[in-house]
Amino acid sequence: MTSRNNPQECFVYIVLPGETKFVTAGRFRLDKNRSGAPVGRYVYGKSYLARNEAVPLDPLNLKLSTKTYETRQLKGVFGALRDASPDHWGRLIIEKRAGKPQLDELDYLLYSPDDRAGALGFGLNSEPPAPKRNFNRTIDLARLQEFADRIVEDEPLPQDPDAEQAQDLMEGGTSMGGARPKAVVEHEDTLWIAKFNRKDDKYNHARTERAMLKLAHACGIQIAESKITSIGDRDTLLVRRFDREKTKTGYQRARMLSALTLLRSEDTHQDRTKWSYVLLVEELRRISAKPKIDAPELFKRMCFNALISNTDDHPRNHAVIATGKDWRLSRAYDLTPDMPVSLERRDLALECGDMGRYAHANNLLSQSARFLLKDEEAQGILNTMEQTVKDQWHPIARKEGVSEKDCETISGAFAYPGFRLELAAR
Ligand SMILES: Nc1ncnc2c1ncn2[C@@H]1O[C@H](COP(=O)(O)OP(=O)(O)OP(=O)(O)O)[C@@H](O)[C@H]1O
Ligand SMILES: [Mg+2]
Repeated sequence: MTSRNNPQECFVYIVLPGETKFVTAGRFRLDKNRSGAPVGRYVYGKSYLARNEAVPLDPLNLKLSTKTYETRQLKGVFGALRDASPDHWGRLIIEKRAGKPQLDELDYLLYSPDDRAGALGFGLNSEPPAPKRNFNRTIDLARLQEFADRIVEDEPLPQDPDAEQAQDLMEGGTSMGGARPKAVVEHEDTLWIAKFNRKDDKYNHARTERAMLKLAHACGIQIAESKITSIGDRDTLLVRRFDREKTKTGYQRARMLSALTLLRSEDTHQDRTKWSYVLLVEELRRISAKPKIDAPELFKRMCFNALISNTDDHPRNHAVIATGKDWRLSRAYDLTPDMPVSLERRDLALECGDMGRYAHANNLLSQSARFLLKDEEAQGILNTMEQTVKDQWHPIARKEGVSEKDCETISGAFAYPGFRLELAAR
């Protein structure tokens, strides 16, 4: 890992709609103010602004303009850039490789592989690098799984840089976000996120997540495509990346922004007042080219999360993407049941109505107009989804290979008693 002089800066590259090669979009610079707090600055390049096909990195917060944008949020890293940066899992690998914890934000941007979510890239040269196409393949999954196990168990990685195996394992790092062990693999001319089971998982996450995607589909939700692949006795979930499309010249890339960025929120629980489906749907209606489809779709996802006790539905688990110029809600991903102890009250990660984060039918229905739904429509959707979840979760889980024992473990997640708890008159 090289050290850079202060101020720290890098170039931001983008693959424009319909293209497969990076062009330089602008320059990002990370300084500290007098009290030592990070301040990020971004400026679009003049030649980028002069392009007819230029698109903004973020149409709400980084509109095409000659001005210098400034932010103090997210350690000075604009949401659109942070969304392209590795998260807990990818950072762990970079730290492990660097041999030290807690690198600075620019290190994470610059030293993570070019498989990041969305259309952006980062580098120290004003000209972008030539595209690399050496993705891991599904055939490498066994080795990637071994690598993931070593990281989880905090075992040292092979140190000999000449060792072929070590090289392969290093490349198993990923810029994709999230906390669970994962890698990006190419399979049948498509890119997939491989999500590995952990040895200490209480149930088979890969198969359960696949079953939840199927259950969401049965509830009328647009889901990411997925499949299970097994290495020995270990299952891995492959989720098809919806931000990449292979063409003759390479991969086209869709821009992608998380709900965290749309909400202009910090990642911390202290900033939770901004974590809200009700606020999110307002932003979604502003950014989406099809708000009448996307707003009710978000309503369904919020209800689904409540119905399967997916209390880890934090704002990085929702995103918007732009394949061309238009932005749309992305397909649904990362749907996992949770088993909170309380049978009376479970809270989603985002506020979902007048009663805050309470995963209760009345609460979910309390702001339905903002999701562009009439009261009766919203009630109809919720009732049908509730019935589908009750009737279908078990048969779908079994069909997707979730064992009866695992079904027992997760059974308390579905349509929990508090969802329809009679509430005292206020
Ligand atoms: N199908 C997909 N196509 C493109 N990007 C995706 C897809 N699925 C997930 N992502 C991106 O990858 C990130 C990590 O994926 P995911 O949320 O499934 O991982 P995770 O480790 O389970 O997350 P968490 O930390 O929330 O448990 C997401 O936040 C999103 O930015
Ligand atoms: Mg996630």
